[in-house]
Amino acid sequence: MKTIAICFVCLGNICRSPTAEGVMRHQIGEAKLAERISIDSAGTGNWHIGAAPDERAQHAAAQRGYDLSGLRGRQIGAPDFERFDLLIAMDDANVAALQRICPPAQRDKIRLLMEFVPSTDGRWAGEREVADPYFGGAAGFEQVLDQCEAACRGLIAALHPQLA
Ligand code: 4NP
Repeated sequence: MKTIAICFVCLGNICRSPTAEGVMRHQIGEAKLAERISIDSAGTGNWHIGAAPDERAQHAAAQRGYDLSGLRGRQIGAPDFERFDLLIAMDDANVAALQRICPPAQRDKIRLLMEFVPSTDGRWAGEREVADPYFGGAAGFEQVLDQCEAACRGLIAALHPQLA
């Protein structure tokens, strides 16, 4: 049985990538793909290793039924490029940081989350990045959730042929 391993990546691993992980886990469960797609998240920075997701991210996610409370921050490392089939970044700075430490043979594994939003999506089509909500207000966390929900739906659709 084919399986796919995905790591979502942001800067701190306390706001965007844990949110993407929580949303994706929920959608994978709904799609009955929990045994086929494994997911994780990590940060390119090292400030929040071992930390729970930001309270604001946890609160916004919980309002939509996603429980992020068990997640803990970790930093991406060289072994992750072997372990995962896809490393899905939130913004261009994350992509650049990943490319700096990625073995050349694994570069194709690095993608942007918003690439997976279907082109027919009226709200997010053409949007390149999931903006960092850390220094902003509550609306930023809602936007991260909206973007993750749209992109993860497209991601699961894109993965279906690879799992066949
Ligand atoms: P994230 O947000 O990359 O979505 O987890 C951030 C979290 C922490 C910091 C920056 C962004 N920070 O500067 O500590």
